[in-house]
Amino acid sequence: MMLRAYMDHNASTPVRPEVLTAMLEVYQDGFGNASSIHRAGQGARGRVEQARVYVASLLNASPNEIVFTSGGTESNNLAIAGTLAPHPGGHVITSTVEHSSVLHTIREMESRGWPVTYLNVSTEGVVDPEELRRALRPETRLVTIMVANNETGVLQRIPELAAVVKSAPGVRFHVDAVQAAAKIPLDVQQLGCDLLSISGHKIGAPQGSGALYVRRGVRLQPLLYGGHHERDRRAGTENVAGIVGLGEAARLAQLELPAEGPHLAALRDRLEQGMLAAVPETRVSGAGAPRVPNTTNIRFHGVEGEALVIALDLQGFCVSTGAACSSGAIEPSHVLTAMGMSFSDARSCLRFSLGKSSSEAEVDALLQVAPEAVTRLRALAGAFAPQGGRL
Ligand SMILES: Cc1ncc(COP(=O)(O)O)c(C=O)c1O
Repeated sequence: MMLRAYMDHNASTPVRPEVLTAMLEVYQDGFGNASSIHRAGQGARGRVEQARVYVASLLNASPNEIVFTSGGTESNNLAIAGTLAPHPGGHVITSTVEHSSVLHTIREMESRGWPVTYLNVSTEGVVDPEELRRALRPETRLVTIMVANNETGVLQRIPELAAVVKSAPGVRFHVDAVQAAAKIPLDVQQLGCDLLSISGHKIGAPQGSGALYVRRGVRLQPLLYGGHHERDRRAGTENVAGIVGLGEAARLAQLELPAEGPHLAALRDRLEQGMLAAVPETRVSGAGAPRVPNTTNIRFHGVEGEALVIALDLQGFCVSTGAACSSGAIEPSHVLTAMGMSFSDARSCLRFSLGKSSSEAEVDALLQVAPEAVTRLRALAGAFAPQGGRL
C-alpha cells in the first residue's frame, strides 16, 4: 500500500488517541449540561474546570483567565471586536502577515470607522518593534500580532513588541498563538500580552475547540449574548467534550514539549536540508528568522505550487501552499508577498508542517519522490530556462 504521509499539521492535526478517549468518556457518561445543578451537570462542570486548569497551566495563566471558544477564529474575533467595541474612536495596529481571522476582523473594524495601521515585515517576515513604536498614537487601543506565522513558521519578537505596547498607556496587546501552542513554550507573563488565542485542532484536540486567554482586569464585550457562561464573556452551553479534549491536549503538550520541540526541529531540518540538496533552485522562506520547529516553507523556482501539491498528493504526501482560492482564481499568499516575493515566486512555495505522526521514514520517502516531481513540472512549465517560462 502507498505510504500516506500527512505533512499538513498547520492546517489541522489528527485528534490524539488520549484526547479521543477523554472525549468518548464525556459522550458516554458525562453528557450533563455544565450549568445544571444536579449530579450530571456538576460532573460536566468538574470536567470543564479541570480542562481550564490544564489550558491555563500550558500558558502559565490563572484558570479564571481562560475563556473557552469554538476555535482560533472565534478567539481572534472576540479579542479584537471585544476589546474595541467599548472604545469607539480609537486606532488599531496589526501586521500584514496575520491570519485571515485577524485581518478580516480588522478590516470589518476599519469599515466601521476604526483607523488601522498595518505594520510591514522584513524579507524574513519579522515585524520591527521600532516600527510599532512609531505607529503608536495617543488614541491607539489595540495591537494584535501573531506569535508564529501559519505559512512560514516565522516567530515574532513578542516580548519586545509587548514592551513597546506597555510604554503607551491604555493599549491592549493581543497575540494569535494558534500556530505556536504545543510547538514552543508559551508563558503569558513572559510574553507580556493581555490576550492570547489558541485553537484545539492545531494541537491534537478536535476542530471546533479553542480558548482565549484574557488577563485579569481586561474587559471584553462579548460576541455572543445569552446565559452567563464563561463569566459573561462567551454565552452558550459549553461544548464539554471539545473542552475536555482541548484540556487533555494541553496537558499532554505541556508534558511533552521539552522533548517534542527538538524532535520536530530535527525532522524539519532533515526535510529542509534534504530538499535543498536534492532539488536545485530551492529556497526556504523566512530561513533567517527564528521559526517554530515543525514548519518549513520552500520555494521551488519555476514550479506552480498547486501542481506540485497535487503531484505529491498522488504519491501519498499531504502538503499545502499558502495560496488562497478566491472567486475561482488562485491568489498568491499575502504573507509571502508581504515578505517581498513576486506573485510568481509566492505561487512557487510549498508548506511542509510536521507533527506527532511524522517520522524520518516519511521525510526520506518525500525526498525520494519530490525531486522527480519538481523536474517534471519544471519541464512542463518550460520555466527553468533563465529567460523563459510562464511563471
Ligand atoms: C495563525 C492562525 N490563527 C488562527 C487560525 C484559525 O483557527 P481555527 O481554525 O481554529 O478557527 C489559524 C488556522 O489556520 C491560524 O493558522
